[in-house]
Amino acid sequence: METSILARYDLHCHALPEWDDGPDSLDDSLALLERAQNAGTQTLVATPHVGRRWKHREEHQSSDIPGAVERLNNAAQERGLTIRVVPGAELLMGAIDIGGAGEVKDSWTYGSKKKWALIESPGMTWPTFANHIVYELARRGVRSVLAHPERYVDVQKDANILQTALSQGAAIQVTAGVVSGQMNDKNMIKCVHNLFKLGLVHLVASDAHMASHTMPGEVVEEVVARVGEARARQIFEDNPRAVLEGTSIPSQYEVAPTAPSGGGFWSRLRGK
Ligand SMILES: [Fe+2]
Repeated sequence: METSILARYDLHCHALPEWDDGPDSLDDSLALLERAQNAGTQTLVATPHVGRRWKHREEHQSSDIPGAVERLNNAAQERGLTIRVVPGAELLMGAIDIGGAGEVKDSWTYGSKKKWALIESPGMTWPTFANHIVYELARRGVRSVLAHPERYVDVQKDANILQTALSQGAAIQVTAGVVSGQMNDKNMIKCVHNLFKLGLVHLVASDAHMASHTMPGEVVEEVVARVGEARARQIFEDNPRAVLEGTSIPSQYEVAPTAPSGGGFWSRLRGK
């Protein structure tokens, strides 16, 4: 199948050397970037985990991310790579304090623009409090990209569980390695197919931790076959560009944040 769609963007990637569960060395990071560039990625967002600790790694603060990205960009340039790395983060829901008067840090968001943030669930489920996190971010003008919902058992059972978050302006990101079948988990693959069928996929990203992981550019034809050319163009071109520019993605409605039912969440969490 011939398509003119270019997957120039990757909005979820663990590319920083010796951070979180990503590459063990600068050489491994550069190998990942080279693989991404060869697959057509031109702009890749480094999204190290925020809110998680790895014992074998030095502890980093989210405020360290932009500097680490700059060092990686310099090394990539020295290696002759043209791919550009942009700062981002993958926020662990529940580990970030945005209840009450809590502020959203620039370094938690795509390009430090405080318009979009990538969030993940702490387990293999999509907890009820996820909707409150999405709401609290939206209330502060930050929309959520929901990382890999296909891995959560509740979403595998009923994808419509994501509708509350979607109604707050959230976007859904699925993993290229699930689309390609590299992540050979039949429940995740089935869930991704269902999300495509329901029209609920806004972004495809690598979530790569090493150079061997599937890149977005390697699944374009598979996505075109599932959703058609026009929708696939939004997924690979229009939507990621909008997130990076800090605007609304074209396929979503403008929404005013509304508190999800079961209010008083933060008060209950804090036992107040
Ligand atoms: Fe990730």
